[in-house]
Amino acid sequence: MARILAVGIVTLDVIQVVEHYPVEDSETRCLEQRLSRGGNATNTLVVLSQLGHVCAWAGVSVSRPGYELVWADLQRYQIESVGGRIETEGSLPTSHIILNRQNGSRTILHYRDLPEFTAADLQKIGLDNYDWLHFEGRAVPELLKMVGWARQICPNLPISLEVEKPRLGIAQVFPEVDIVLCSRHFAQSQGYEKGSDFLRAMWTQVPEVDWICAWGAEGGYGMSKEGMAVASPAYSPLSVVDTLGAGDTFNAGIIDGYVRGQSLEQALSGACQLAGRKCGQWGLAGLQTHFP
Ligand code: FRU
Repeated sequence: MARILAVGIVTLDVIQVVEHYPVEDSETRCLEQRLSRGGNATNTLVVLSQLGHVCAWAGVSVSRPGYELVWADLQRYQIESVGGRIETEGSLPTSHIILNRQNGSRTILHYRDLPEFTAADLQKIGLDNYDWLHFEGRAVPELLKMVGWARQICPNLPISLEVEKPRLGIAQVFPEVDIVLCSRHFAQSQGYEKGSDFLRAMWTQVPEVDWICAWGAEGGYGMSKEGMAVASPAYSPLSVVDTLGAGDTFNAGIIDGYVRGQSLEQALSGACQLAGRKCGQWGLAGLQTHFP
């Protein structure tokens, strides 16, 4: 069991389940509508909490419609909100999500107008209480300050960074953390079609961190700071039901593996199994089984 702090967003997800992906400028009757809490950092924490860790979230929110639902879900998973800023202006970050029942694909339309969490906000939180610090790769200037400050006051606290989207200047953060968790989308945005090629190139540029990349139905890749390349197949469920939050679940699996002292290879395999299980079910509840 570890004490994990994640910095990132919380959202209201309005999930519309459709028989098949709609045609532009058409009208579709949805099969189902679900409202749930979302956001990468909090999704990852919801999974980590089920795996037995003590989880805390730091980010920005606002008391606007949907807030109670989001808050109740964090409480259900005993995720403590620490140093979270509650704004009075703006709307709750909201995603309208088209979930295709045929293949479980999720298409996200995301809106946010809230300010970002800042280094000054993080500095109000003592980091002594944590064994692991996880950041979403966003708002790079503040992120750099946050990581720099955490390193200064807690040099031995492991830090993971999630890189889902290309963001200006994000590469500056890579050498400052211990583990970089990249999405396939990010790898492809850098011009790579193979996860292993991408990681080798990243490791060549920044060899002092462990690199990990989830590759959907192909599994995942890793490259340790010692230069060892590893791969894991995907553990596809019989039927892919819901891929929303699969990457966030994968990241939770990696963090869980590391805090349990597993090798990169073991953590990668466990994360692929966990993400595979998630894709075969609705939402993130019921993922508590620990993969050795
Ligand atoms: C899934 C997710 C959703 C959220 C969106 C934000 O990874 O976190 O829950 O609405 O991405 O980008």
